Amino acid sequence: MTTSTRRPTGQSAAHKLGGMTVDLRPAQAADASGIGAMFARAFAYDTIASWVTPDIARRVRLLARLNTAIARDEGIPHGATYVAEDAGRIVGAAIWQPPKPGRVNWRSVPFALAAGNALGRDIPRMMMAGRAAAGARPRQRHWYLQLLGVDPDAQGTGVGSALVKAHLAMVDEDELVAYLETTVENLGFYGRLGFEVVGEIVIHPSAPREYSLMRSRRSVREGSPRP
Ligand SMILES: CC(C)(COP(=O)(O)OP(=O)(O)OC[C@H]1O[C@@H](n2cnc3c(N)ncnc32)[C@H](O)[C@@H]1OP(=O)(O)O)[C@@H](O)C(=O)NCCC(=O)NCCS
Repeated sequence: MTTSTRRPTGQSAAHKLGGMTVDLRPAQAADASGIGAMFARAFAYDTIASWVTPDIARRVRLLARLNTAIARDEGIPHGATYVAEDAGRIVGAAIWQPPKPGRVNWRSVPFALAAGNALGRDIPRMMMAGRAAAGARPRQRHWYLQLLGVDPDAQGTGVGSALVKAHLAMVDEDELVAYLETTVENLGFYGRLGFEVVGEIVIHPSAPREYSLMRSRRSVREGSPRP
């Protein structure tokens, strides 16, 4: 088994999707704020984000700051982050985290500071959500789909599926499982990409339920799930 923390290669690929010619490519440092702004639009009415920050104007503002920090400090430099671009505009992005070596990641410190600064009074609920999600992570080595979002006006045209599939090839090369958590609205979407519900995440009695989803290991040679 080759387990890597490789980043995506510099190659990009053009896809004809819903009347757009979408370019799928690895994200660069300069993309961080564009990714953050796009995630803010994609997650504006997300049920967990709405529970953390009920006020819509404040939520969109915080989502942009928080997700810019995630892309800049956690995604682009250390993981595998992809953007989907239509005529120079970022219409979707996916941030994957590679299998962790299990040590404290000091590189997360700038992110923690930026996040705390952005969230203010919403820190307790965000920490509850973060702790619950962290506690549900599988013990086995896995690629983690930390964030996936598509601009609302580009949703339903295949951009999200293309972004996930772009990295699943690397997950399969590593012969590892892929893992994510999501809400009930997206179970059908991820089910079609081979993910199965393996658990429920209770953040708080008043919070929407989240689900742990896993995609089993595949052998590149056989193209099928492995035991
Ligand atoms: C979830 C999300 C990432 C999916 O991205 P997307 O680009 O809309 O996904 P796709 O277009 O690949 O597939 C979505 C649906 O459109 C359908 N579809 C795909 N290609 C299509 C096309 N050319 N024409 C019409 N419909 C199409 C798919 O069958 C799928 O059906 P579903 O709604 O029953 O699941 C996106 O909706 C999103 O950003 N949502 C808000 C944020 C969020 O919840 N993120 C995930 C958190 S884990």
